[in-house]
Amino acid sequence: MSAGYFHRQPGWHPPALTPGYKSSVLRSPKLPLLALGATASELSGPVFGDGLIGPLDNDLIRNYSQDGSEAIGQRLIVYGKVLDENARPVPNTLVEFWQANAGGRYRHKREGYLAALDPNFGGCGRVLTGSDGTYAFRTIKPGAYPWPNGPNDWRPAHIHFSVFGHAFAQRLITQMYFEGDPMIWQCPIVGGIPQKEAIEQLIAKLDRHNTTPMDALAYRFDIVLRGKRSTLFENRLEGN
Ligand SMILES: [Fe+2]
Repeated sequence: MSAGYFHRQPGWHPPALTPGYKSSVLRSPKLPLLALGATASELSGPVFGDGLIGPLDNDLIRNYSQDGSEAIGQRLIVYGKVLDENARPVPNTLVEFWQANAGGRYRHKREGYLAALDPNFGGCGRVLTGSDGTYAFRTIKPGAYPWPNGPNDWRPAHIHFSVFGHAFAQRLITQMYFEGDPMIWQCPIVGGIPQKEAIEQLIAKLDRHNTTPMDALAYRFDIVLRGKRSTLFENRLEGN
């Protein structure tokens, strides 16, 4: 029997109301939240098999190509490990990612930024973690883009991630930033995260050892999901 998952740590994740991020003012709860016990639907989740993943799903440079040519932009490998809070790898879990193109433009009908679309870049993909929790995909570096928040707010270059984990209680939706980008520290969404260490956990590290020479730079981004509370074993006293 599972003993459930650790609760989300307040103070590590951004609070629901962060007035610098304007849309959080209207959508944040006005009353204190009620804590409900986890049920079977939170402690289980969908299982995705290899058969659902296409051969180019982990390659945003080529997976939307219309004419056989590759997406425009700085070529990257993004890789890392999905772990839980007990530092155990999370194998065979679905990692999805989506991003703007090299000019900072999304392929979305409600996108309003004037930067040009790249006809050969779609901007989303997915991959399953291996038995050791690792994942990797190829993409191009997304551009920064302006957004209607303050009079001149820009999002730093980022990639959105969704990680399913073993159960709905573990699912995480987050964003990855790039080491050394000064825009990170000026972003009102990033600024909603209370602790600097929590922000740094969202910044992928440039990894010169895993680049593909004359082709792609590598960035490492490890992702930590909620961990399971340890089941008490009869032969191990609590605290040992
Ligand atoms: Fe975005």
